[in-house]
Amino acid sequence: MMIEPIQRRRSVRKFLKKPVEDEKLTEILEAARLAPSGNNRQPWHFIVIKDERLRQEVAAATNNQAWIATAPVVIVAVADICARSENYAGMFVDEETCGFDLKRVIRDTTIAISYILLEVDNQGLGACWCGTFTQEGIRPVLGIPEDKFVLAVIPVGYPAEEPKAKPRKTLEEIVKYDRW
Ligand SMILES: Cc1cc2nc3c(=O)[nH]c(=O)nc-3n(C[C@H](O)[C@H](O)[C@H](O)COP(=O)(O)O)c2cc1C
Repeated sequence: MMIEPIQRRRSVRKFLKKPVEDEKLTEILEAARLAPSGNNRQPWHFIVIKDERLRQEVAAATNNQAWIATAPVVIVAVADICARSENYAGMFVDEETCGFDLKRVIRDTTIAISYILLEVDNQGLGACWCGTFTQEGIRPVLGIPEDKFVLAVIPVGYPAEEPKAKPRKTLEEIVKYDRW
């Protein structure tokens, strides 16, 4: 039943020092690879960071959330507008950039990140989507070109906490039947 891992998943922010096995990491990335995307463009890239210094630099660029670097692995998810059209090559994109194609690649990459978060849980690991960075702050840390949009910093490791469930809206609040 798919609902069980969905109910069980939490954002995890405390990690054991234990490293993450490469086999588990591969399964997690495989889950992202198989995600659906508009026109099957698969506009995503994932940077897997184990190097401690780089993890610290990424954490510093993510609003100084130092706890991020305590995870043995940090995955950085990047949406690539060039997957929609090669005409975008070299174009500067950031949070202020308008346009449907950037929305499309962000939409698709979000799906892949959701799959990552669920497979992380399935592997007995914990993770948290972290989004408090700017493009100009984080791209230079990892040498990411200006035509790529960084969407998430995802620390991954064995959980050292069991967070309680955060509240969610009720179905009545979010579901309408037949018409708005
Ligand atoms: C787009 C996005 C950005 C987030 N950024 C951060 C972040 O920078 N730091 C953090 O601690 N949690 C971050 N979170 C985690 C949320 O706070 C968390 O998902 C939410 O409170 C619900 O809790 P749960 O994931 O345990 O169900 C982010 C989540 C999302 C989806």
